Amino acid sequence: MPFPIHRPRRLRATESLRALVRETHLEPSQFVLPLFVCPGEGVKREIGAMPGNYQMSIDEFVKECREAASLGIGGVILFGLPESKDETASGAYADDGIVQRALKAAKREVPGLLLITDVCNCEYTSHGHCGKIVDGDVDNDQTLEWLAAAAVSHARAGADMVAPSDMMDGRVAAIREALDENGFTKIPILSYAAKFASVFYGPFREAAESAPQFGDRRSYQMDPANGREAMREIELDLEEGADIIMIKPALPYLDLIWEARQSFDVPIAAYQVSGEFSMIMAAARNGWIDRQRAMLETLTSIRRAGADIILTYFAKDAARLLG
Ligand code: PBG
Repeated sequence: MPFPIHRPRRLRATESLRALVRETHLEPSQFVLPLFVCPGEGVKREIGAMPGNYQMSIDEFVKECREAASLGIGGVILFGLPESKDETASGAYADDGIVQRALKAAKREVPGLLLITDVCNCEYTSHGHCGKIVDGDVDNDQTLEWLAAAAVSHARAGADMVAPSDMMDGRVAAIREALDENGFTKIPILSYAAKFASVFYGPFREAAESAPQFGDRRSYQMDPANGREAMREIELDLEEGADIIMIKPALPYLDLIWEARQSFDVPIAAYQVSGEFSMIMAAARNGWIDRQRAMLETLTSIRRAGADIILTYFAKDAARLLG
């Protein structure tokens, strides 16, 4: 009979004991803050469903970068709202596109901050899908050319890392080849390897103005029911040359973060997406949940499951609290 010899409560009695035996730790350097850049000057428009997050013109974006750097946050990931959208997503790979201009400014003004770019077309197409439409569906292979061009233009403008989120087949290989051909052999690829067709992207699509105008993304993003397929997607992306792999969303897919941690010895990122953030904020605003504790508990869970890096809209808040 273990009791009364074994009393696990002994190590929970005080905060100093709890801190001593704590298994999982959060560090600001593990967080990546998503930021939305828009045209104009002095623009800082709060996103309705994402309190504390803004569509920002480049000048405001640079201020945000400075703050992220001073808080010791691991990096920022950029999303762009272009002046205009078209059938060919030309704003995604234009050398003077919104993200490209923002990169140049941030690299100049905040040189120490790690700049990651989301490589996708949905913010730049008039129809809101992630690639070129042929016969009512996104054409995989033609979309690869746009993605490769976008990645190269980001690297040229100062991106330190590119993160394809489109879920086309073969995009990591296409991007790796294009980067290398253009002399960017040192730019790593963070692949959104297992990205699910999730309802939790809803608030983001308001923020990035990227909701599909017809249909949905289920012919390219993954079915939430499929765990084995997620491991297969990760394996393929690693074969194609991904340096870091990501699972997205985070909390509803902790099992897959855990499984990936057991199976692959590469850095693993997880994206606590807009809907995960908004749910906590909404409940907190109603007085139904404690915002700070919900933030720390979810971030800790994602780390405990095995993620090394967390993309999160809480990055600044959490860093402040930890710092
Ligand atoms: C672009 C992209 C999306 C997100 C990140 N990159 C939206 C989507 O796939 O529809 C979602 C991020 C979030 O919800 O916070 N494809």
